[in-house]
Amino acid sequence: MSGVSRTVIRGGLLVTAADETYADVLIEDGRVAAIAAPGTAYARSWTAERLLDAHGKYVIPGGVDAHTHLEFPFGGTFSSDTFASGTSAAAWGGTTTIVDFAVQTKGHALREGLDAWHAKAQGNCAIDYAFHMILADVNDGSLKEMDLLVAEGVTSFKLFMAYPGVFYSDDGQILRAMQRGARNGALIMMHAENGIAIDVLVEQALAAGRTDPRSHGEVRKTLLEAEATHRAIALSRVAGCPLYVVHVSAAEALAELTRARDEGLPVFGETCPQYLFLSTDNLAEPGFEGAKYVCSTPLRPREHQAALWRGLRTDDLQVVSTDHCPFCFVGQKELGRGDFSKIPNGLPGVENRMDLLHQGVLDGHISRRRWIDIACAAPARMFGLYPRKGTIAPGSDADIVIYDPAVRQVLSATTHHMSVDYSAYEGRQLTGRAETVLSRGEIVIDQRTFTGRSGHGRYVPRGSCQYAQ
Ligand code: URP
Ligand code: ZN
Ligand code: ZN
Ligand code: ZN
Repeated sequence: MSGVSRTVIRGGLLVTAADETYADVLIEDGRVAAIAAPGTAYARSWTAERLLDAHGKYVIPGGVDAHTHLEFPFGGTFSSDTFASGTSAAAWGGTTTIVDFAVQTKGHALREGLDAWHAKAQGNCAIDYAFHMILADVNDGSLKEMDLLVAEGVTSFKLFMAYPGVFYSDDGQILRAMQRGARNGALIMMHAENGIAIDVLVEQALAAGRTDPRSHGEVRKTLLEAEATHRAIALSRVAGCPLYVVHVSAAEALAELTRARDEGLPVFGETCPQYLFLSTDNLAEPGFEGAKYVCSTPLRPREHQAALWRGLRTDDLQVVSTDHCPFCFVGQKELGRGDFSKIPNGLPGVENRMDLLHQGVLDGHISRRRWIDIACAAPARMFGLYPRKGTIAPGSDADIVIYDPAVRQVLSATTHHMSVDYSAYEGRQLTGRAETVLSRGEIVIDQRTFTGRSGHGRYVPRGSCQYAQ
């Protein structure tokens, strides 16, 4: 603990999902105690041990990244960020809460997986964290366990229509999990790709000698994302439970979500910065460079980007998370030289999300308030963390970023803090950067110096999805 119990942030433009206003913020014992217009007698009456000057800066809620995979077992290896390195990189990028995916292993109980994730995270995180649970083995036992997990704050479960033999669930298993969710208030998150059909196309591509990273994008067809999204919506409708589709990348899949939402169904969607900024052009980079961009759902042709930005503006997509799942190029991505299906799937990005989306504001894709909504407030609401997280309001945790909207930066593996040997955005110029970051009132990034510590971050049990009540 810093020993500072009262902090005042003066003079910034306070931006939340709902409002933009010049305001001073009083923080007391890790929470927002008061907000007042600068210069008012009330604001001037505040005394504090620490004064932070935010003139010319934005004062925004800390980011909530609702989709990370730290120390995640995949493709015969583990994602390269630990809970210590991944959460400090998140802090550097202005994210103050992550929701990571605990994994159920086939043949094992949910509890074992969740305990293992608590053991990895506890005492190691620089920012607060919560868990979703990956349901890899839907059976009577795991369905019963879902109720217990919901009661203790793990209120969302990810199912996979992809990755047969690993995380895959068939339609019967999915329906049963959804029916359980309809009863116990859990939110079902779906990896919507037709993995059975994709595996046939993988086999055929390899047999035809198409072994390079570009083929990863070719076999994971947009139609197979759209088909799975359609099927997931139908199953959720039959079960009467809300649905959240993760990492939406294809315009055709988004169209399925839009249609369902137009019918008033409780169906929600997330996309990720990689689908807004990268494309199949990256998968086609020469040599084996394309391996750096292998993730699932895959990167799509550039034309899809406009549809995704539009979905974010129209609220057909509610959330942008990173799906941060880094694998080093050397020794990890290289496992798939000569066979793209052996490239571990996933991209690094937890440090870059807030800045890439701010660039989306500058480029005219979204408004400033929508930036804060999709990156902070909506994920907090979606996963039962609001208003403790995701906003700046009296009583909220003082997870606050003083954001410099004018500073220029160049993204690079030589300067980032993620434990991975490349940047998916190497050389990209952005404007805007988190300057100072507070987590529950403690300064974890102080004018671009890391002042946090592993172990400051606490586990946050979650409530139910606040969109689906
Ligand atoms: O490529 C990805 N997305 N890797 C992480 C696992 C997943 O499906 O989210
Ligand atoms: Zn000033
Ligand atoms: Zn997935
Ligand atoms: Zn993921």
